[in-house]
Amino acid sequence: MMEKIKLNNGYDIPLIGIGPGSVMRGYSVQIFGKSKIGQLCNKISNRLLYIYKAKKYIKSVVSAINTGYRLIDYSAAYGSEKLIAKAIQKSGVEREDLFVTSRITNHQQLNKDVRTSFFESLKKLELDYIDFYMFHWPVTGYYEDTWLEMVELYKEGYIRALGVANCHQHHIDNLIKKSEILPTINQVEVHPLFTQKPLIEYCSKKGIIVEGYTAIARFDDRLIRLPALKQIAQKYNKSIVQIVIRWHLQNKVVPIIRSSNKRRQLENISVFDFQLTKEEMLKIDSININSRLRYDPDNCDFSVL
Ligand SMILES: NC(=O)c1ccc[n+]([C@@H]2O[C@H](COP(=O)([O-])OP(=O)(O)OC[C@H]3O[C@@H](n4cnc5c(N)ncnc54)[C@H](OP(=O)(O)O)[C@@H]3O)[C@@H](O)[C@H]2O)c1
Repeated sequence: MMEKIKLNNGYDIPLIGIGPGSVMRGYSVQIFGKSKIGQLCNKISNRLLYIYKAKKYIKSVVSAINTGYRLIDYSAAYGSEKLIAKAIQKSGVEREDLFVTSRITNHQQLNKDVRTSFFESLKKLELDYIDFYMFHWPVTGYYEDTWLEMVELYKEGYIRALGVANCHQHHIDNLIKKSEILPTINQVEVHPLFTQKPLIEYCSKKGIIVEGYTAIARFDDRLIRLPALKQIAQKYNKSIVQIVIRWHLQNKVVPIIRSSNKRRQLENISVFDFQLTKEEMLKIDSININSRLRYDPDNCDFSVL
């Protein structure tokens, strides 16, 4: 059973999450040219490819749940909510035992569609509440109003925990001024190449749990080749990824990891039988080079993101 910690509103969150991401990440067949027949063939090929990929996607989410994951991280932006719903049903795990997360897209925020978008997600996920709902990015000029609408949905009982993603301290300070409801979670990019210490410290002081996405830095070469990490991994007879995940847990960050592979899904949660020393934690902290793999919320174009 996956261990849990308490959020500032009394609900429990599992210590590690799986983020299955999007089903058609970067796939589109255009090999038959632009003639009418060519376009039709492209369309049929894409449809068949989608069916194949969707089956694999459902299988990998079912495998994650059956391996022991209970926190499923999702966003309406990924466009596969119906597949998540199928996977949840197929897993046979009780709804109450899962911690299902979703988030409103930037596009939906820009359209001021918070309520409608939330209920669309709920319907596609075939759920009657979401465990953790957040906005995907603090869209400049919009995120405060989005938050106020999310607060309404929370008060109506459709959301167990309300939170945010990609927020700097100044975004959260703004929200605190606007509403009496404090975010429970801030989901941001965290990994040893980008440790986010000041933000984590700020959130901890406010009682906000940090979820770390891109938690293993997408298996980035700059990380996995580091002799310091290799040495620690050898000492505990663990993989470098397991060391990084353990580092997150001991920093009280909830790592969200994507893996569609059953063996790696199991590897990534087999991290509860060892403990890093203080020196090892500091050594991993010192890997930080402030290198983001995703965007800086203060410096991106929300109309295209
Ligand atoms: N809120 C946001 O703005 C935001 C942004 C980005 C991501 N996220 C969330 O975070 C999740 C994960 O982020 P991410 O996909 O950017 O990065 P990630 O989890 O750091 O890396 C995923 C990659 O690592 C591989 N991998 C997983 N476990 C491994 C292991 N034990 N050994 C070797 N390789 C391993 C996966 O391949 P295999 O599948 O082949 O194992 C996949 O290619 C997303 O799916 C999403 O839910 C949120």
